[in-house]
Amino acid sequence: MATIGVIPGDGVGPEVIREAVAILEDLGAARGLGLDFAPVDLGSDRYLRTGEVLPESVQQELSRCDAILLGAIGDPRVPPGVLEKGLLLRLRFDFQQYINLRPVQLFPGVETPIKGKGPEQIDLVVVRENNEDLYVGAGGFTRKGTPEEVAIQTSINTRAGVERCLRYAFDLAGRRAQARVFPGLSDADRAAGKRGLVSLVAKTNVLTFAHDLWDRAFREVAADYPAIKTDYHHVDACCMRLVVSPERYDVIVTTNMFGDIITDLGAVLQGGMGVAASGNLNPERTYPSMFEPVHGSAPDIAGTGKANPIAAILSIGLLLDHLGSPDAAADVRSAVARVLADPGAPKTPDLGGTATTSEVGRAVREAIAAK
Ligand code: NAD
Ligand code: IPM
Ligand code: MN
Repeated sequence: MATIGVIPGDGVGPEVIREAVAILEDLGAARGLGLDFAPVDLGSDRYLRTGEVLPESVQQELSRCDAILLGAIGDPRVPPGVLEKGLLLRLRFDFQQYINLRPVQLFPGVETPIKGKGPEQIDLVVVRENNEDLYVGAGGFTRKGTPEEVAIQTSINTRAGVERCLRYAFDLAGRRAQARVFPGLSDADRAAGKRGLVSLVAKTNVLTFAHDLWDRAFREVAADYPAIKTDYHHVDACCMRLVVSPERYDVIVTTNMFGDIITDLGAVLQGGMGVAASGNLNPERTYPSMFEPVHGSAPDIAGTGKANPIAAILSIGLLLDHLGSPDAAADVRSAVARVLADPGAPKTPDLGGTATTSEVGRAVREAIAAK
């Protein structure tokens, strides 16, 4: 029996989470996974109603779950940062979800704006450090509001925090090289060495303290993985290469801030924010891991039925992997792949279609049932 804490959240969050949960319910029943859902009311409505962002009792309840599924949070009526920091980042930090796993995979049938590239070339994973860097909230103002004002925001990078993230990335590259963790990997690709590469993405030429630590730790960890190839890219050059030659990447490991930025770019490579999934992982399983689409609450399309549920649905694939149900996870991915590859299947407007969120969700459920 596994309990999933479900935080639908704000904007399009509840719309896409409804579809993801319906699929989990179907799969749970069909495969006897024993899934049980605990809806959790957090987000802008609760905040505006009660002033509460993340009450202690709710956090306790979440800590008892086996995993958390989150839609999105953020609302134009709430000042920026209140919910993002007080809820989302707090859960990522307090539950030591120090890996933010963000696959960038172009499914056949989905258009990428990158000229001349297809599913063969766009299949990488970003391992984003998720508990340190500029996200820790260290810093402050002096002489706030005066012409002499100074704002300081400090990036914290600990050797232990960086090293555990690097080790996760190397282990993942090893698994991707060995197994067909992600569909689309042909034997020829593997023979051509397109797997088993970890790229460190940082800015060692400017951040000569923080990224010197990353660089040294990277070399030392790499020495423990002689079968894995490594390279290094400055983050600016990485952005350029992700567009020009995404096939040079297999596993990218990077800092929290850079990982945030390059994964929105990665989302575009794979067809947009509507299809990009993520998992905030506590690999030791001391605390629940949390799965969410990379996108936010999309206030511009909330309530219109235009939100693509695929990002949320692929996030439950990552959740099922984490809960030890790789077959169910593979079923989710293959059903999504079939819907995306079928020109006659419903698609939301971001993928060039006219279907609604629930029509796409239903198509994926039917594809799973038809397997
Ligand atoms: P966003 O990701 O919400 O939207 C960016 C663009 O992508 C918008 O044009 C939106 O319509 C589109 N988009 C997003 N999800 C989509 C989907 N499922 N289908 C189709 N199109 C989709 O980013 P934003 O506008 O910068 O942020 C809005 C709010 O969300 C802010 O409050 C921000 O802080 C918050 N946010 C939350 C999360 C999260 O909860 N994990 C992540 C990012 C942003
Ligand atoms: C993401 C989001 C969050 C982040 C925000 C909403 C705090 O952009 O999940 O990518 O910066 O990590
Ligand atoms: Mn982001």
